[in-house]
Amino acid sequence: MTAVPLRLLSSTACVDDGVLWVGGVPVPDLAARWGTPLFVYDEKDLRARCREAVAEFGAGSVVYATKAFLCGAMARLAHEEGLLLDVATGGELHTVLSAGVPGSACVLHGNNKSDEELRAALAAGVRHIVVDSFDEIDRLEAIHTATGAVARVQLRVTPGVHVHTHEYVQTGQDDSKFGFNLGNGDASRAVERARLSGALDLVGIHCHIGSNVFAVQNFTEASRVMVDFFAGLGLSELTLGGGLGVAYTSDETAPSIPEWAAALRTAVAPLPAGVRVMVEPGRAIVARAGLTVYTVGTVKPIGGIRTYVAVDGGMSDNPRPVLYGSGYEAFDPRRTEDPREGRARIVGKHCESGDVLIDDAAVPAGLAVGDLLVTPVTGAYGHSMANTYNKVPRPAVVFVADGESRLVVRRETLEDLVRLDVL
Ligand SMILES: Cc1ncc(COP(=O)(O)O)c(C=O)c1O
Repeated sequence: MTAVPLRLLSSTACVDDGVLWVGGVPVPDLAARWGTPLFVYDEKDLRARCREAVAEFGAGSVVYATKAFLCGAMARLAHEEGLLLDVATGGELHTVLSAGVPGSACVLHGNNKSDEELRAALAAGVRHIVVDSFDEIDRLEAIHTATGAVARVQLRVTPGVHVHTHEYVQTGQDDSKFGFNLGNGDASRAVERARLSGALDLVGIHCHIGSNVFAVQNFTEASRVMVDFFAGLGLSELTLGGGLGVAYTSDETAPSIPEWAAALRTAVAPLPAGVRVMVEPGRAIVARAGLTVYTVGTVKPIGGIRTYVAVDGGMSDNPRPVLYGSGYEAFDPRRTEDPREGRARIVGKHCESGDVLIDDAAVPAGLAVGDLLVTPVTGAYGHSMANTYNKVPRPAVVFVADGESRLVVRRETLEDLVRLDVL
């Protein structure tokens, strides 16, 4: 019996004599070899989630939302597994193209795409652009006038539904910076404009209602609204976004990819055969495949109040607790089976009292300086949101599989931190 449920860990995770192994490698060995903080991804689990999504939705219909976790190795992996790649900025597009993924496998997103980003996407021959505003249509028309380029597009529509998730990651409601509003008629006006424009080849409609959504009913409700709108348009592609939630803590459960797919299939059943229904999962592909390993640097018991355990990372490698109040678990990978009878606030090394990773964590008794701490389910929106606040270098990322680990993003160095300075 592990103190942390194995369902929060990736599929190859196992425990031997109390020690956590992932991808056939003991996690303490990874910390010793690559240092901490360290992001560890289980490559088999990443591939399994990609395959599961493709099996449910079909080849060419799953777009991996790279914002969840992106580096060259991840871009290649998703491409090898037959996923398209959603890039929301010129930077994400550049990263994906630099990894050798063709532009034709990319979908460009973004609520405020610049001329440069649109031109770069068109030059790369992206599969389609998800158009988000009338201003963007103006820009594409200006580019068409200058270059003759015609953009294959889907239009992002906000269906006007509220979902149960943190308000910062709700995106399908009327009061949103994203997309064309369905309720006030903007979405219909955008369709008309796109149809009349020689700069646009309108192929479909898109929506994305939010992120870390646990209730499949939220997806069904939004999909029904979208199907109603889409049905009369005679278009060939409908993207229903990503947003599937994952369990981060022992008390959470989330629908699986097949359960999500089943709900969406029911909702789109009225559509004519031949319509391609696409999805854009990010978190559900990468979250559970990843974990973070830290080293404990200080243990500060404050009698009658609490114990602070500080690790060698913090809000710079995982800003989610600060941004959304997200919960996590923590455990010692050398003592995975020990009951977690102690309580501590797990904090980072940044100059903020708010630099909290876990507010009130169950930890093994006697946690001491030099111990390792693992936070599972950090594969999504951890490394991708990492920053260098306080000039703390960003962690390395390793992929593990079949008893081997390979570095896919090296640890940032002190030299990297001053590389952009002009003296
Ligand atoms: C347009 C779009 N598609 C897909 C996603 C992926 O969402 P998730 O990682 O929750 O699946 C996002 C993330 O917010 C998004 O903005």
